[in-house]
Amino acid sequence: MRRIVIGGNWKMQVTSTTEAVSIADDIAQGLSTLSSVHVFIAPSFTELYSVNKAVKETQLKLAGQNMYYHEKGAFTGQISPLSLANLVDYVILGHSEPRRIFGETDEFIRQKLLKALEIGLIPVLCLGETAKEREEGNTKAILHQQLAGSLKGLQIEKMKMIILAYEPVWAINNKFLNPDTEIRPATPIEANETHTIIRDWLKNEFGAPVAEEISIIYGGSMNAQNAKELLALDQIDGGLIGGASLSAEKFLPIIRTAAHLLENRSTDYRWESNTLRFDE
Ligand code: 13P
Repeated sequence: MRRIVIGGNWKMQVTSTTEAVSIADDIAQGLSTLSSVHVFIAPSFTELYSVNKAVKETQLKLAGQNMYYHEKGAFTGQISPLSLANLVDYVILGHSEPRRIFGETDEFIRQKLLKALEIGLIPVLCLGETAKEREEGNTKAILHQQLAGSLKGLQIEKMKMIILAYEPVWAINNKFLNPDTEIRPATPIEANETHTIIRDWLKNEFGAPVAEEISIIYGGSMNAQNAKELLALDQIDGGLIGGASLSAEKFLPIIRTAAHLLENRSTDYRWESNTLRFDE
């Protein structure tokens, strides 16, 4: 089902439980009138238990930042999908940080994706090219490679569960990923082009009706200012936000923008509860 999704990826930025719970509480309170948008945050694994307790009865959902594909066993340092499923609804997979810093491959990501689907977690599959790959004219090839590597041959019913996140590496506010290039958000034209490449690949692989049902969200230096023009595009169904998700003050305006812009679209979002409008 195509949804409007705004996710907050906290990465390794919030290292105290008290702080994590306090930010999550603030975000959850601000959401009480915003049910047209599906919102999640992904705190560190060590904060998930406490944050889960704090937001359980609210509309704010949680995501794991990654997971392993075996359920149990001698895998030092890994997170079991079963442990995660007790605490979260979503799991971020294939993010450029584990891909490009820790060497995760498409096949490794595919295994995790299959496991996430098997146990009922919603995968948020991230894709994106580096500045060099873009400069060399390889954006489409890289996206196709990442899509095929993790999704080719997937059953249509499973495909419909997945959220895709286009995150150009060069736009992610991360100096380790981008040591030599200026970090900037994608322009609406760039984002529209790549989202269209992704949706066209989905059409070819799974057919147009399925492709139209899949949410493709954008990530990379998104904030309250640039969210307005990015989320105004029909091809962008939400955002995956790093830095600007670390406080309610920065995160809620993005969610508000999403709610305002997207509810007026012709796309059938078929949200489960469509009762509200956001009060400024
Ligand atoms: P920033 O919003 O900090 O650039 O991070 C984007 C991201 O990687 C979200 O997953």
